[in-house]
Amino acid sequence: MAETIEYDEAEARHEELIYETGEAADRRRFVREALDLEGDERVLSIGCGPGFEPAELAPIVDGEVVGVDRSEAMLALASRRCNDSPNVTLTTGDATDLPIADESADAATVVQVYQYVDDLEAAIDELARVLRPGGRAMVYHTDWDSLVWRSTNRARAKRVLEAFFEHCPRPHLGSELAEPLREGGLVVDRVEPNCLLDTRLEEGTFAYHLMEGVAKYVVDRDAVDPDMAEAWIEDLRALEATGGTFFSLTQYGYLVRSPA
Ligand SMILES: C[S@@+](CC[C@H](N)C(=O)[O-])C[C@H]1O[C@@H](n2cnc3c(N)ncnc32)[C@H](O)[C@@H]1O
Repeated sequence: MAETIEYDEAEARHEELIYETGEAADRRRFVREALDLEGDERVLSIGCGPGFEPAELAPIVDGEVVGVDRSEAMLALASRRCNDSPNVTLTTGDATDLPIADESADAATVVQVYQYVDDLEAAIDELARVLRPGGRAMVYHTDWDSLVWRSTNRARAKRVLEAFFEHCPRPHLGSELAEPLREGGLVVDRVEPNCLLDTRLEEGTFAYHLMEGVAKYVVDRDAVDPDMAEAWIEDLRALEATGGTFFSLTQYGYLVRSPA
């Protein structure tokens, strides 16, 4: 079984840097637009991470926004980020055992969370339980097979990236969600791709911060020799110097609904 990232303070802070990028902001807009929220709806952000999701959902609904996460380090960041949002409540909880009443949510976001969950069926059952009849959710995940990250040494890049894909138990979940969602009693209304594309590798881009995260993960776990990880980074930097950066990752949003 892959070793799931549990997010200590440093890892949570690094994740926050990724979520500060324009590509991640675009992704959150994509998710919000799909949910088409209105009025006094009550919205859950399941696996709210460093709190960008609840902070950005808060001004567009009059109802409560509830952020749930199992990581205290993430919730500490979220708490700071949502400090000025009186309609946000943050709570510790697991996606497989949500501290939320039955049929009490009009809408929910589950963005990049279920790939870390061992019992996916239990997590989807929980999502179906908390949505009111007719309530909807955006369940948005990656299939890492969709990654195109240019390198001059494909074998080395493959070695580094495949070691990184071990960071979660379900690296291909983005293409695997339709059946478990339906089996959990949810209706899949549509599936939409969202592509994160970078042609620059500079600080503040998704690719830059992911590169750092990948190298740290594979070296810390002794999965890749530090010299190999460094050589992979140097190659990406050399491509950047000649204007040759190309990074493309496609993620998939499943708009689901609880049957009315
Ligand atoms: C990659 S972050 C995504 C954060 C947020 N959804 C966003 O897109 O901005 C994944 C988050 O899911 C949380 N998480 C992972 N497994 C979880 C579980 N079983 N229950 C609750 N939270 C979980 C992690 O602690 C982390 O904060």
